[in-house]
Amino acid sequence: MRILTEAIEVATEVTKALAERGGRAADNGVSLPFLGSMAAWAGDGDHVDIGALYGASAITVALVKKRLGLKGDVYCIDPYDAETRDRRVVGTGLSSPVSATKEELLKNAEFFGVELKLIQKLSHPWPEELKDNVFATAYIDGDHSGEGPMNDFLNLRGRVTDYIGTDNMEEEYPDVVRMVLFAAAQDDWQLFYKNFIFVALRKTLPSRGLSAGNYNPAEE
Ligand SMILES: C[S@@+](CC[C@H](N)C(=O)[O-])C[C@H]1O[C@@H](n2cnc3c(N)ncnc32)[C@H](O)[C@@H]1O
Repeated sequence: MRILTEAIEVATEVTKALAERGGRAADNGVSLPFLGSMAAWAGDGDHVDIGALYGASAITVALVKKRLGLKGDVYCIDPYDAETRDRRVVGTGLSSPVSATKEELLKNAEFFGVELKLIQKLSHPWPEELKDNVFATAYIDGDHSGEGPMNDFLNLRGRVTDYIGTDNMEEEYPDVVRMVLFAAAQDDWQLFYKNFIFVALRKTLPSRGLSAGNYNPAEE
């Protein structure tokens, strides 16, 4: 996947501005250029961001879409409750701010001139408000432990038409690694791209799908 200059510029701006505004981008924004490029390559369509925190990932996607003239709304799913947040980040030794609020998320979006549609809930069970939505792209960056990453993939699997990105595919998060390896072994999703800790999964193209129904070894 080619990394777009626009995505690098947006990622740099968002990471810097959030730090100046008293927040932060997760992992200092290292995955944001890859996420922004993934969303751009999908073209028009809605995006869903699981785990929004101060909004770095969701704002990056919204701003890249805006600057490239791509259509589509950006949804965020995050409960913004202290217990969920602390389970994920407290004890990791982070010295940067972790206590984001939904007000900070929405103010940060306003600062960048983009709109985010927040569903203030856990991503699993899948929110009722989004039960009929279809997304071009999604980003998994919420609960990285236990069944969290797998539940997110299973919930998104049939609702996303192009790419599912995930953060933190690294040894520190074995349940994210397990989810990505599972997803990439399925007929309907492929491992598209990995750079550092970011992974993009691509929906299998109908013409390339090797299902029992259309694969004929005699044709090779
Ligand atoms: C690492 S932060 C996300 C960082 C953000 N994507 C960024 O780019 O800066 C994790 C966020 O996931 C949220 N979270 C944790 N478990 C969740 C779940 N099951 N569903 C939705 N959000 C969750 C937390 O409240 C926290 O805001």
